[in-house]
Amino acid sequence: MGHDYLEQPFPEWIEGSTEERFTRIYERRFWGPLESSSGPGSSLEQARVIMEMLPQLLEEFDIRSVLDIPCGDLHWMQHVELPVEEYIGGDIVGELVTRNREQFGRSDRVFLHLDMISSELPKTDLVLCRDGLVHLRYEQIWEALANFKRSGARYLLCTTFTGDRENRDIQTGDWRPLNFQNPPFSFPESIRLIDEHCPEEGFGDKALGLWELAALP
Ligand SMILES: C[S@@+](CC[C@H](N)C(=O)[O-])C[C@H]1O[C@@H](n2cnc3c(N)ncnc32)[C@H](O)[C@@H]1O
Repeated sequence: MGHDYLEQPFPEWIEGSTEERFTRIYERRFWGPLESSSGPGSSLEQARVIMEMLPQLLEEFDIRSVLDIPCGDLHWMQHVELPVEEYIGGDIVGELVTRNREQFGRSDRVFLHLDMISSELPKTDLVLCRDGLVHLRYEQIWEALANFKRSGARYLLCTTFTGDRENRDIQTGDWRPLNFQNPPFSFPESIRLIDEHCPEEGFGDKALGLWELAALP
């Protein structure tokens, strides 16, 4: 399948603060032109498994509230009826949050302009972080993880890659696969692992891992 942005060198115009970088990426459709402005991983095809498995997982672990950060453009999530009392979608791109609020907002589905690294996050049972940490620098990932813990959430469900991968650092806004069980993160074994069956060449080991935040470094 192969998407340009996964292979091309990191462009110089992606600079500035974290918010400026992702706003530029969004405005310029750097991850598109695709069916979703949030990139190839947000297509209905690539989200197929998680769309099916997420409601079951939430039921099983008795999760009643979810903070989906980053929520992106809700391209796939808009089609999922979650068995929860509250869904909060957060993203660092203000325009995206406004658009989501207008299109998909309802009393039990709210959208907030949030930076997962530095904003005070609302307390929910679960933080869902799909395709989020993989775009950040190591230092920012540690800050985001500390922030998730500070929110008071019990669980984290986040993107991880299960293959024998050596993790590396990047510039904010770039991307790389991360195996969170390998250094420098060295997470314990997840409570549950959802294999996304990613059709993207070289990324067949993409998954969502469920951890108790208290068990993470
Ligand atoms: C690849 S998209 C993933 C969206 C969604 N989770 C999905 O599965 O479709 C990445 C999103 O992360 C957002 N983002 C990047 N850094 C962020 C941060 N520090 N806080 C909140 N959102 C952030 C970007 O604006 C973008 O919408």
